[in-house]
Amino acid sequence: MKIIGTGSVIPKKVVTNDMLSEFLDTSDAWIYPRTGIKCRHVISDEKLEDLAIEAAKKALDDAGMKAGELDFIICSNVVNEYVTPSLSCIIQGGIGATCPCIDINCACAGFIYALDMAESYSKAGKVKNVLIVCAEEPTRMTSWKDRNVCVLFGDGAGAAVLTEGDNIKGTRLSAASATDKLYQIRTLEPTPYITKEETSIPMQMKGQDVFKFAVKASSGDIRHLLEELGMTPDDVDKFLLHQANIRIINAIRDQLGQPEEKFPHNVENHGNSSSASCPILLDECNKKGLLKKGDILALSAFGAGFISGAAVLEW
Ligand code: UT7
Repeated sequence: MKIIGTGSVIPKKVVTNDMLSEFLDTSDAWIYPRTGIKCRHVISDEKLEDLAIEAAKKALDDAGMKAGELDFIICSNVVNEYVTPSLSCIIQGGIGATCPCIDINCACAGFIYALDMAESYSKAGKVKNVLIVCAEEPTRMTSWKDRNVCVLFGDGAGAAVLTEGDNIKGTRLSAASATDKLYQIRTLEPTPYITKEETSIPMQMKGQDVFKFAVKASSGDIRHLLEELGMTPDDVDKFLLHQANIRIINAIRDQLGQPEEKFPHNVENHGNSSSASCPILLDECNKKGLLKKGDILALSAFGAGFISGAAVLEW
């Protein structure tokens, strides 16, 4: 397939590090040097599904495609207000599409997994035009009393429209179960038969373990995929990495031995927006004219699960 349109929408409420230090024992002096984050956009009076629908419409406009031409919608999302129906069904109605749709939960790596699915469905001859929307609200998963976690995240939606083509050169998916390193637990409705004790736990993270996993998994996925394709990191024009922490991005860059200018980033303005992070960055680079036709892009993301993946494509 090939990506022919991108779109993104971020919430209007900007929360700076200084604003966080008004109610948390934290500071810009701690957050910025350790993460590269200056501010994040947080959902206030918006609804996540509205951001998702708007991002989808922008991507369709960019692609010059009508919603009725879509064959499949894949929505990557960890949590939203609805348990059911799926967010992809809500997006389908919001944009006026009629095609089948599916939600996936691959945490921060959702865009890579969605690209792999789209490419696989296309190769199987089942679809021609696919819409991917990654819409995430991680700021509702964390405790805003926990400085270890809440300072890292921001909300948003990013979308891409794909059609037939041979621009996706390859994808690689990985997973390594590590359920105690990054998780959130919510309780479900009680039944008369539930006897065990249940408690909701906001997002918990062993930051340094996640950091080490992220660097190893992402640089490994990119290297292995490039090798499979008979390419080296030198052949890549831009690395679009999951925006979790600038130090993680820099460590991956060191592992790959590549120059700074090949790694566009926006973590300073968005924080970690889970699976929306990669398509938001892709859209920003696209709209700023940073991507030239024929550029080789390597995308990579990692997150809870642990799950990670990489994709190499020609722009
Ligand atoms: O999509 C994947 C999602 N997650 C990630 O990508 C996170 C990966 N991990 C990281 O980015 C880093 O590990 C963090 C940014 C989370 C932490 O950075 P670090 O350099 O590993 O910090 P640290 O663990 O060395 O420092 C922790 C210390 C603790 O204090 P003590 O116990 O050493 O006295 C924390 O209480 O820093 C303290 N701390 C803070 N202090 C001020 C933790 N968060 C904060 C905070 N403000 N926001």
